[in-house]
Amino acid sequence: MLTKKIEDALNIQVNNEMYSAYLYMSMSSHAANAGLKGFANWFMVQYHEEMLHAMKMFEYIQRKGGKPVLYTIKEPPAVFDSALDMFEKTLVHEQFITKCINDLTDLAIEERDHATQIFLQWYVTEQIEEEENDNDIIAQLKLIKNDVQALLMLDRELAGRMTTVLTDFSKGIEGVTPSVQP
Ligand SMILES: [Fe+2]
Ligand SMILES: [Fe+2]
Repeated sequence: MLTKKIEDALNIQVNNEMYSAYLYMSMSSHAANAGLKGFANWFMVQYHEEMLHAMKMFEYIQRKGGKPVLYTIKEPPAVFDSALDMFEKTLVHEQFITKCINDLTDLAIEERDHATQIFLQWYVTEQIEEEENDNDIIAQLKLIKNDVQALLMLDRELAGRMTTVLTDFSKGIEGVTPSVQP
């Protein structure tokens, strides 16, 4: 069983993950509209990852006898200054998510909830990768500056990112092999 404190905190994190998905979907829309289809693809792949993060937590709450509660998802920004602006905002947001996961882990330790601590380890590791990816792309965008040709080359590279996570949640997540989308 989950304590009320843990259940409430996990439900808030489901909402944070859903907002992450929404934010990256918005960035995908903006990038596509700006003619950067590769960036649009990268952000849409990220959208799928965030939906998986949300679903994984939703399912965990259920498996522990709790009840997932769905809160209003905040409206994300719709306009961005540049590709660099999108990635800098992505990094700031991911740093916020890392803090949320750390706070959740602290709470699980306080509540002596070992199962939730172990469950959250997956997210702790995931956040290292998320921040690393953003930092790498920010570094490249800073080198590119106003070089349109170099930007289009990066765009082509980002077009190659593929979804490696499960995208069909109709059968749940546990025990299902992730499908790789073409
Ligand atoms: Fe996430
Ligand atoms: Fe994320």
